[in-house]
Amino acid sequence: MIVLFVFLVLCYNLVQGQFPRACITSETFQSKTCCPLSTDGSPCGSRSGHGKCRTWVVPVAFAALRESLGPRQFDDDRLDWPKYYFDKTCECFGNYSGYNCDDCRYGCFGEKCDRKNTVVRKEIRELSFLERKRFFSYLALAKTTKSKNFVILYTGDRHHKDTYKFVDASIYDVFSWIHYYSIKTILQNGTFDERTNYAHQGPAFPGWHRLGLTFLERQIQLLTGDENFAIPYWDWRGDKNCSICTNDFFGDNDVQGYLSPYSHFAFWKSICSGYNYDEAYCLGAEDQNQMERLHRKPGVNPVSPSLPTLQDVEETLKWDDFDSPPYNRLARRSFRNALEGFINPRDGVTRQIGMHNQVHNFLGGTMGEVPISSNDPIFVLHHCFVDKIFEEWIRRHKATPDMYPRNDQPGQGPEECSTPYFPCYRNKDLMRNSTRFGYIYSKYKGM
Ligand SMILES: *[C@@H]1O[C@H](CO)[C@@H](O)[C@H](O)[C@H]1NC(C)=O
Ligand SMILES: *[C@@H]1O[C@H](CO)[C@@H](O)[C@H](O)[C@H]1NC(C)=O
Ligand SMILES: *[C@@H]1O[C@H](CO)[C@@H](O)[C@H](O)[C@H]1NC(C)=O
Repeated sequence: MIVLFVFLVLCYNLVQGQFPRACITSETFQSKTCCPLSTDGSPCGSRSGHGKCRTWVVPVAFAALRESLGPRQFDDDRLDWPKYYFDKTCECFGNYSGYNCDDCRYGCFGEKCDRKNTVVRKEIRELSFLERKRFFSYLALAKTTKSKNFVILYTGDRHHKDTYKFVDASIYDVFSWIHYYSIKTILQNGTFDERTNYAHQGPAFPGWHRLGLTFLERQIQLLTGDENFAIPYWDWRGDKNCSICTNDFFGDNDVQGYLSPYSHFAFWKSICSGYNYDEAYCLGAEDQNQMERLHRKPGVNPVSPSLPTLQDVEETLKWDDFDSPPYNRLARRSFRNALEGFINPRDGVTRQIGMHNQVHNFLGGTMGEVPISSNDPIFVLHHCFVDKIFEEWIRRHKATPDMYPRNDQPGQGPEECSTPYFPCYRNKDLMRNSTRFGYIYSKYKGM
């Protein structure tokens, strides 16, 4: 176990999505082994020295406690991720990464993964006309190109792995599904716990979304061969309305909220829309006709009639504690809870919808329904700015992984794997400068 930890500290594995197509056969589920063949024909590229297949010791926070309390009913498939699915996975060496060690860790490129490249994420309005056009065509390609490596779980009895069914999805939809899957209510001892999930309402929130964005960014780099591709952000500080909700950018909408037919995303459909929250996975994922179109209603929700201000962001950044007990939506004087948007960033105590949550609410429509919000590509730009604020906080506070708090939210402990990413990425290891993940942010409006 100690050896494994040292390895993880030294090597920043490229995060992949779930589920690798090569690891969803009944044999892999029976053997609980996900060590697919690499291009050299050996598991985990062991012949070329890229990695090896090894038993993954999940740093389990709750398993011992759960067992000590006696016999249990059904537990969630995602608890102690990825233990329920796999015991053996690939361990990649050096700069190699990915579920079969055929890929490079973030920020590395080339056949030997020995070439470094750090991309610059810019504000969308800083892009030239051509850069912007390129970005929209890359998104269109990601939305329509089937993912070679990943499939999504869309139906099955949650209690029986052998009934699970997987379906092909586009690269963008794999990204969107990962977010959806992370939010599903957690099943513990036969009871659904509505209070928490893997990506929100706890210290994992900023790092979890950081991984999602880097996953999508890297997938688009691989898809287009454009190593310099960087996700842009939307600096919404002080915007009077959604200034990028125009057809040149993310699209105008009609009274019902549907995007203008002249906009880039007019015909995008939402995967997992019409979700049955607890029992089902992602109904309708195999049938385009069952999916609803994107919609948005900026600036009409009376609960959040405006966007966060420059002042709000500064007040959020001033909190020295990354998070505070009880490490959920009730946390006070917590940078994370102010950023996520459950407390007033100024006093750190008053409960209110602010910051990240406020932007979701303000935009409404698909973005207002958190489980499916990632279907709207404006989600990517919003979260990219949230990540920029996280990065700014990391720099100002010289944050290191040991500042990530111990806490009892399932899947949000420092040593636990960010869920459901695969291979494992420990939550605390996401609290590092973005250069470690191959990107930096442009300076814009003084930040
Ligand atoms: C699990 O649930 C069963 C039945 O509801 C109960 O008897 C048992 O005490 C619970 N175990 C734990 C560890 O909560
Ligand atoms: C990893 O990549 C870096 C550049 O990003 C390079 O300097 C280094 O030599 C590589 N390491 C290995 C083991 O290939
Ligand atoms: C924002 O613009 C929309 C039209 O796109 C309008 O319906 C809404 O009332 C505006 N909201 C504010 C707060 O200006």
